Amino acid sequence: MSLQPASTPQQRAGQVLGRLAELFEIGRQAGTNRPGLGEGEQRAHDLVASWMAEAGLAVEVDPAGNLIGRLPGSDPSLAEVWTGSHLDTPPDGGMFDGALGVVAGLDAAAAIGAGSVRRTIAVVAFRLEEGCRFGRGVFGSRAMVGDIEPDEGDLLDADGVSVAQAFAELGLGRLPTRGWADPPPACFLETHIEQGPALASAGAPLGVVTSIAGMAGFDVVFSGSRGHAGTVPMSLRSDALGAAARFVLAAHEIARSIPGAVATIGRLVTLPGATNTIPGRAELFADLRAPDAAGLDALVERATAAAAEAAAAGACTAEVLPRWRYEPVAMDPATAAAVRRAVTGLGLEPVDLPSGAGHDAAIMATAGIPSAMLFVRSDAGGISHAPEEFTGADAIALCAQALESALRELAA
Ligand code: HGY
Ligand code: MN
Ligand code: MN
Repeated sequence: MSLQPASTPQQRAGQVLGRLAELFEIGRQAGTNRPGLGEGEQRAHDLVASWMAEAGLAVEVDPAGNLIGRLPGSDPSLAEVWTGSHLDTPPDGGMFDGALGVVAGLDAAAAIGAGSVRRTIAVVAFRLEEGCRFGRGVFGSRAMVGDIEPDEGDLLDADGVSVAQAFAELGLGRLPTRGWADPPPACFLETHIEQGPALASAGAPLGVVTSIAGMAGFDVVFSGSRGHAGTVPMSLRSDALGAAARFVLAAHEIARSIPGAVATIGRLVTLPGATNTIPGRAELFADLRAPDAAGLDALVERATAAAAEAAAAGACTAEVLPRWRYEPVAMDPATAAAVRRAVTGLGLEPVDLPSGAGHDAAIMATAGIPSAMLFVRSDAGGISHAPEEFTGADAIALCAQALESALRELAA
């Protein structure tokens, strides 16, 4: 969708929504399917790169395949201001998660215009933010700050494709082995749909993120004895799925007992997976999160113990394999204050709230880059990672204005 010179906020919201709708059609089934380092994400990067070029931004693809469009400031000697998010999605994802931050960032940069602020504004689309394809995400932002594990390229997706293979197949070459955010940006501002019900229930269109939850991901393997569904008495079974089921319910209970904590087992595979065979093996992935470090520690510790207990109760064994952990991280007060001023400048009461979802902003903040997030209300009950994800044009219009004024202040 080509960018017409837009003046009214409603026109800009219409253009942002039109572009999000265009991106939503990539890999479209029930929702959009743009798996990180896959064909769908690449098509989205190519489309956004064309929009960046059309808006007169200098377009670059960095060593991790992150897409960066730069609006030159009047003083190139100053550290840049970065904004953006990601363009990959979970399976059958929604229209707004990630893409809103990139498309709104581009809209704001186009509204600001080259040379009208001192600092260059860079609009960034980080690669492979979602962890669902390879079991670990926030790849592009971690690569940029030098936080890629040596064996990261060996991570496999469900089809046995490795990160390194997917990366090379996109023509991105070899995985970067060190960071390059040097000189680092002066700050990073990520705009994102809230993905929850808080702003809608507060009757607020925009929110300012205070902190991003800590999270830890584990593969857990339960091993028992496979056997005939009809001939093994219940008292003699070591049913791996039975053990896994006990663990799932225990993990949910533990999360309920820790303030703000959540535990999600979104993938569970039983082997051999035959309807008339007792599962000898059950493999699951546990995504554990809490708003603070003490809560995350307690959740991880108790869930790990629960895996062993659940296994023992079913005469099975459990193997708990840590895959990643990100500590809770606060947003930068000064950068967040600029976002808050932009929201009050619209005559709105800014709502401060934590983020339970992970974001590239957490990686940037943890690396010491002053970061903040502008949340836009989620309509449709806050649903996300689902085709029904939705935010109305009125909130998008306010978001466009707030992002523009926050970037003008940060880049002044
Ligand atoms: O998992 C998350 O919180 C994010 O959507 N990647
Ligand atoms: Mn997401
Ligand atoms: Mn996201």
